[in-house]
Amino acid sequence: MCWTMSINFVILAAGKGTRMNSKTPKFFQTIAEKPIIRYIIDTCKHFSSNIIVVTQESLLKHELFADVTTAQQSSPKGTGDAILQAIPFLNADNTIILCGDMPLIETKHLELLMNSSKNSLMTMVIPDEFRDMPYGRVILNEGNFEKIIEYKNATDSEKLVLLANTGVYKIETSILKKYIGKIKQNPLTQEFYLTDLFEILKTNGIDISVIQSKEYWPFHGINTMEDLAKAEEIMQNRLRKKFMNNGVKLLNPKTTYFAFDTQIDSEVVIEQNVIIKKGVRIHSNARINAFSHISECEIMEKVEIGPFARVRGNAKFMESSAIGNFVEVKGSLIGKNSKAKHLSYIGDATIGSDSNIGAGTITCNYDGVKKYKTTIGNKAFVGSNSTLIAPLAIGDNTIIGAGSVINKDVSKNSLAIARCKQNVISNGAEKIWKSKKNVK
Ligand code: UD1
Ligand code: MG
Repeated sequence: MCWTMSINFVILAAGKGTRMNSKTPKFFQTIAEKPIIRYIIDTCKHFSSNIIVVTQESLLKHELFADVTTAQQSSPKGTGDAILQAIPFLNADNTIILCGDMPLIETKHLELLMNSSKNSLMTMVIPDEFRDMPYGRVILNEGNFEKIIEYKNATDSEKLVLLANTGVYKIETSILKKYIGKIKQNPLTQEFYLTDLFEILKTNGIDISVIQSKEYWPFHGINTMEDLAKAEEIMQNRLRKKFMNNGVKLLNPKTTYFAFDTQIDSEVVIEQNVIIKKGVRIHSNARINAFSHISECEIMEKVEIGPFARVRGNAKFMESSAIGNFVEVKGSLIGKNSKAKHLSYIGDATIGSDSNIGAGTITCNYDGVKKYKTTIGNKAFVGSNSTLIAPLAIGDNTIIGAGSVINKDVSKNSLAIARCKQNVISNGAEKIWKSKKNVK
């Protein structure tokens, strides 16, 4: 295949992202929990490790860029100036340039470009609903490339052209090096537009191949929070489709949200309005009931979670265990066949197998300064509304009386009750009723 040729990827990511109106740099905004810049880097990595990201000085050594080369653009003077900063790092025959704000692009789109033999420009037809999006418009003359006109600089009739620049290009590196310095500052914005390079190439007799993508979404650029939300929606739809194709049953797909790294086996059922964040692995025949919020956990076979459950902080649920409504589990191991079905907080705990945690049980894992662990053995029965003050160890086969506040270890086979003794005064209630004037 053509794309085995030597190639550099340059990702432009030094812009200010002012249209986002956010203090978070645009490229660190996430979709499906992954920073948008990492989508593009990972897509390029599929082809080559020869990746240069042009970024701001403060981000040169950022961990997100640990596996790529970074080039600094001191101040954002436009995409033409940004690519100039990458020039010293280019050592391959061809260079593919991408804007860093298009996370939905996939390897198949880059293959189109790589298989093209010439200097190429990737274009798309803007769907009618996005006709006012400020993409650069590609002007053709009898089917041949003429120029790219930036939206800000376009006349009203040029704005009506729906063939748009995607911001993805392939250029022979020697040609790029030769002509990049010829881009002039745009009089309207004072920026150096990379897009002007193509008109310069054409004027110098270099053929530009205009590749037209049939799709819009892979090239959807993120410039505003609204653009980001649309990309999130598209990514979620891709993930939903992937899981359903793999045999995961989603009762209302559009209300289930996944993270980029979610792993789910077939035969899992997910009810409506479930949110799955980063670091979740769900094994077959598990069931996630409605309105549950799940992050960083492993859920083994036949586990049932929720409805209205919250899971986080590296939790693990062994086979056939269950948590029910209004139960939060954080950083805990719930053993095989153990259950906490109602209104509990289980934090930093290890629970053995076949144990039952009664409604309203709380592990008090935090004293305001430090976190402590609770261990509960196998076949333990923790009565409802128990308060378990960690550090604490409760042995196998124990019973904790309902309503107990337990702050000392309970050895195996023991019964622990820590609550006020009940006092019953016969006819006591009747006397009180009589003493109240308005009661007969
Ligand atoms: C750019 C293209 C436009 C195209 C659109 C596709 C230019 C001049 N315009 O417009 O034709 O239709 O992308 O999404 O190229 N950047 C820098 N340094 C700078 C300026 C920008 O690194 O000085 C980076 C940005 O961080 C971004 C990319 O270059 O990743 C494109 O810049 P952006 O401001 O998003 O340009 P658009 O207006 O989207
Ligand atoms: Mg953009």
